[in-house]
Amino acid sequence: MWKIETPLKNINGKLFFANVNTAKLANEFGTPLFVTDSERIISNYNNLHSAFSSHYDKFKINYAVKANNNLSVLKLFNSLGSGADCSCPEEISLAKKMGFSSKDILYTGNYNSEDQLSFALKQKIIINVDSSSILPRLLRIGTPNFISLRINPGIGGGSHSGLVFGGKNTKFGMSKNDAIESYNIAKKAGVKKFGIHMMTGSSILDASYFKKATNKLIDIAVEIVEECKISLDFINIGGGFGIPYRPPEKSLDIKKVGSDIGKIFNGKKSSKILNNPWLFVEPGRYLVADSTILLTSVHSIKSGPIKYIGVDAGMNTLLRPALYDAYHHVLNASRLNSRPKKPVNICGQICENTDILAKNRKIGTVKEGDLLAILNVGAYGFSMSSHYNTRPRAAEVMINKKKYKIIRQRETINDLIKGQKVVTWFK
Ligand SMILES: Cc1ncc(COP(=O)(O)O)c(C=O)c1O
Repeated sequence: MWKIETPLKNINGKLFFANVNTAKLANEFGTPLFVTDSERIISNYNNLHSAFSSHYDKFKINYAVKANNNLSVLKLFNSLGSGADCSCPEEISLAKKMGFSSKDILYTGNYNSEDQLSFALKQKIIINVDSSSILPRLLRIGTPNFISLRINPGIGGGSHSGLVFGGKNTKFGMSKNDAIESYNIAKKAGVKKFGIHMMTGSSILDASYFKKATNKLIDIAVEIVEECKISLDFINIGGGFGIPYRPPEKSLDIKKVGSDIGKIFNGKKSSKILNNPWLFVEPGRYLVADSTILLTSVHSIKSGPIKYIGVDAGMNTLLRPALYDAYHHVLNASRLNSRPKKPVNICGQICENTDILAKNRKIGTVKEGDLLAILNVGAYGFSMSSHYNTRPRAAEVMINKKKYKIIRQRETINDLIKGQKVVTWFK
């Protein structure tokens, strides 16, 4: 059974989000509509920060921009004192636009082009190199002052095989031996400051995983420091902190993660050999996933062996169910007090049979015209949405203590044809 918890509220069977009636938002802005509660982002940031910084004070959060790149979200993280973890020049540009300074931007790309490396070099941000073949190419363009290397520590985790980034058979990171060679090359080329990084998986709810992976990275860091005679300014343990999407999953015990990692960083290897490096994390999901709901209207219901509830959001709006078989809880915002009945499938309007947002769900009575709310869509929701089947992307609204504002206009046909040129060859 799903418990309605803050910022969700059931008032006379109608869903309120951050104290605003969701029906009012849908009437004012239309559907599908992403609605983000900024207060939830702030409390997630503060929880994560205090879980780690109460054990180790040289601690910094670098928000992973790819999770949700809305400018207002970036502005909020900048105001909280976060750094920004960017995956491409475009994300670096957005971060800069929203006030992040060069020293607060990390660039973790993979299989980068020379243009991308050259752009990053000019920005004087910290470049996190993913493979030993990229480093010489980067050094041919110029010598950065600060470099970090992404290690594959031989361990991976994640709620779906597509979310495992470390261990065997992944395209990310380099081996310890490649890293030793690369640090030596960088040192010889005149790089002055170094960091080390891993990002081994996403959506992980098991606190003990982070301890295991961090111990591995620390052991590798110790070998590197001793072998290459360099010092590491920071050790970046990546993101990956999960949130409970599917009942009865429990929240990640972030206090335990913070205290386990704090112990490792206060331990002998870190304090004596690594000389008290900065501890960096770069979470996306943990900070933004549960800050946002997706409102969508029911347009058509088809009966059969299983009922299909057809809504105006689809895999174009929220890709995660089709991509990862991901679970997002769905509430009927118009009839919260209706008793659960036979299971239904909730589908979008896209011409693909994978366009199912929720399978076999007991959500009670649903009628055409109802408003549904899909929960926990703040991470990899809008940012993974597309124009597939010629669909303009949804609008986004941010709520701050009952105040709300559109933070991204709904797209129109003009956005779909922008930049296209029609050839004059055909009559
Ligand atoms: C390099 C890197 N850092 C950070 C993240 C954020 O991960 P999460 O949202 O699981 O915290 C990702 C996600 O794919 C990533 O690839």
